[in-house]
Amino acid sequence: MTLRSTLSLFVLSATLLFSACGGSDSEPAAGQTSEAPTADAGLSAEELEHGIGPIAPFEPGPINAALAERGAELFRMKCSSCHKMDGRYVGPALGNITEERSPAYIMNMILNPQEMITTHPEAKKKFAEFMTPMPNQSLSEDDARAVLEFLRQQ
Ligand code: HEC
Repeated sequence: MTLRSTLSLFVLSATLLFSACGGSDSEPAAGQTSEAPTADAGLSAEELEHGIGPIAPFEPGPINAALAERGAELFRMKCSSCHKMDGRYVGPALGNITEERSPAYIMNMILNPQEMITTHPEAKKKFAEFMTPMPNQSLSEDDARAVLEFLRQQ
């Protein structure tokens, strides 16, 4: 046996040894949940579509201009430092958000951002992309609803 083949044999067995250890270590961590078959990351289909937080799915109805106006003012004070309607800023553009996300999803993101970006797969993706955690702006549910109305107007 040449030195070279002895060496490669050594490298090979070291590699096998490592991967064997790694394998047995990581197996239990991959544990499957016994949730509903459609669940992603242990979330229900409703949570996936409408987000995680205090707001249940709802139909917002026709746009209420007075509510949207209040929302515009709130948006200017609490959101415009990070969001524009078009174009990436500290956070994603929100001009088309009501076409991409359900009303409840948007309000849950406003009211419960920490949990959203740590447990909801879509919000996690955005966090990975923007790398700034959206802060909880302590809006009331009514205020969040007003901001939603403003966003629906865009
Ligand atoms: C300090 C910056 C900051 C502020 C202030 C902020 N956001 Fe965000 N927002 C982000 C970032 C960054 C993301 C992407 C997710 C993440 O990284 O946390 C995000 C994500 C979102 C999303 C989800 C977008 C998507 O495509 O799913 C919505 C909706 C949203 N923000 C609305 C708001 C509203 C409404 C306000 C004001 C009440 C607000 N944000 C205040 C930074 C901010």
